[in-house]
Amino acid sequence: MPAIPGPRTPAQLFRAGRAFQHSLPEGLEHLRDTYGPVSVFGMGPTRIHFLFGPEANALVMRNEDNFRFSGAYDMLRPIAGDTALVTTDGEPHDRRKRKARPSFHRGGAEESTRLILASIDETIDRWRPGQYVDVHRTLRSAIRSAMLRLFCGARLAAQEQVLVAQLDRIHELMDYPLPQQLLAWKLPSAARRRALDAISFVERRIYEEIRRRRFEGDPGRERMRPGGHPGDLISVMLSDDGPAMSDQEVRDMVVSALIAGYDPVGSGLGWAVYNSLNTPGVWQRLREEALEAPAGEAVSAAQVRTLRYTNWVVQESLRTHPPVVMSPRRCVRGFRYQGHLIPAGSMVAVSEYITHRSPSVWRDPDRFLPERWDTSREGYRPPTPFEYLPYGYGGRRCVGANIAAVVLPAALSRLARRTTLDLRTRDPQYGGIPALIPRDGLFAEVGAAPPEARAGGVLAKEPR
Ligand code: HEM
Repeated sequence: MPAIPGPRTPAQLFRAGRAFQHSLPEGLEHLRDTYGPVSVFGMGPTRIHFLFGPEANALVMRNEDNFRFSGAYDMLRPIAGDTALVTTDGEPHDRRKRKARPSFHRGGAEESTRLILASIDETIDRWRPGQYVDVHRTLRSAIRSAMLRLFCGARLAAQEQVLVAQLDRIHELMDYPLPQQLLAWKLPSAARRRALDAISFVERRIYEEIRRRRFEGDPGRERMRPGGHPGDLISVMLSDDGPAMSDQEVRDMVVSALIAGYDPVGSGLGWAVYNSLNTPGVWQRLREEALEAPAGEAVSAAQVRTLRYTNWVVQESLRTHPPVVMSPRRCVRGFRYQGHLIPAGSMVAVSEYITHRSPSVWRDPDRFLPERWDTSREGYRPPTPFEYLPYGYGGRRCVGANIAAVVLPAALSRLARRTTLDLRTRDPQYGGIPALIPRDGLFAEVGAAPPEARAGGVLAKEPR
C-alpha cells in the first residue's frame, strides 16, 4: 500500500509549516496543491490526516460513530469543559444539545436577532462621517454584548467590561497559528497561564449565577420579551423541561455557546460586509432591497427570508469565507480511503474552505458571485450538503445555525440601509483559528448616512 503523501523532508516540512504559519487556509491549500486530496502532516499529537472534497466530507460527517469529536477538540477542553458539545459524543452530547434547543430555535432565534440588531444599531449610532472604523472588530463586539445577554442574562451582562477583558485573553491563545496552537495548550507558557486564569475568572462568575438562580428559584427566568421566548441559555439549561443538568453541564454549555457563538457570527458578518463593499454594485442593491422591504415591527425569520438578494450575498460570502475553515475528528477504527489505510486513533480533518473553493464543484470558485444562488437561473443546481457546509452536517450541525441564518442577512441589510462605508482595507490577510478573521482588521471610512436611512420598513431601526 502506498505511503500517504505529505511533507517529510526538512525542506517540505518547512514549506508546509510556513504556509500554516501564514494562515489556516494557506496551509490547507498548500497541502492540497502539493500532495493532493489525501495527505498527512505533523508529528506525534499534532499529526493530522487531511481529506479534501465532498466525498471525504460525506464519509467523515455521515459516520459519527467512527469519527468522533472527543479526542479531536481536546485543545478546547480547558475552556469548553469536559461536558461541552464539542468535547463529547453519543447520548450525553445529544441529550445536552436537545436541552439547549429552545434557545436556538424559533422564538430563541428571533429574540437573538432583535438583541443583536439593537446592539449593532448602537454601534452604528456611534459612527461619525469621516471616522475610520475597524468594521469586523466593532461588529464582533456588538454581537458579543448581545450574546452575553442572550446566553447569561442581564446580571452577568451588566459585568460585560470585566468579562470581555477575560474573553479577549482566551482568544489571544485560540488565535495562534495552527502549529503553535496545537502545542500551546500542552506546554507551559505565559499566554497559556493567562488564558487559564481568564477562564477560571469567567467560570467563577457563571457558577455564581447558576447557584444563585438555583437558590432563588431562578428569578433570572425573566422573559426577555413576551411572545414565547424561553429566557436566556442559563434558564433554559436549568428549566424543568427535559433532563436535569448539573452545574458543570450548564457552565460548559454557556461557555461554549459564547466562545463558539460571537466569533463565527462576527466573522460571517465581517466578510459579508467586505465582499459586498469590494464587489461593485452589491452594497447599493442590498440597500435598495432593504428599503423595499414591507413595513412591520418585529424582525421574523420569515421576513428575513424575503430579502432574496441579501440572502444570496450571505450564502455566497459563507461559501468564499466560511468562518469555520476545517473540522477535525478522531477516528475510532482504522479505515481505507482512496487506496490509503488510515490507522485507528488517527486525527482526521476535512475542510469547508477547500470544499467551497473547489473548481470541480464551483465554476469560478474564487469569484464572489451572489447570483450563483439564484434558483431561477438557467442551469442552477443546488449544492449537496457535502459541497456546501458552512454550518457542518447531521447530528453535529452547528447549534447556532438558525440564529446565524436570521441574524446575518438581517444585520447586513440593516448596515447597508443605514451606512455608507468606503472600504480602505484592500487585500485582507487571513487570521484566526476558531473563526476566519481579517488578521489586521477591516477598515472603512464612514460616509454620510443615506437620507432614506430612517424611513419605514421591516428592517428599519426600531423607534426608541
Ligand atoms: C455564521 C455563524 C456560524 C458558523 C459559520 C458556524 C459554524 C459551525 C460549524 C461548521 C460547526 C460544526 C463543526 C464540526 O463539524 O467540526 C459548528 C458547531 C457548533 N457551533 Fe457553530 N457556527 C456559527 C454560529 C454559532 C453560534 C451563534 C453558536 C452559539 C450558539 C454556535 C455554537 C456551536 C456549537 C456549540 C457547535 C458544536 C455542535 C455539536 O458539537 O453538536 N455556532 N458551528
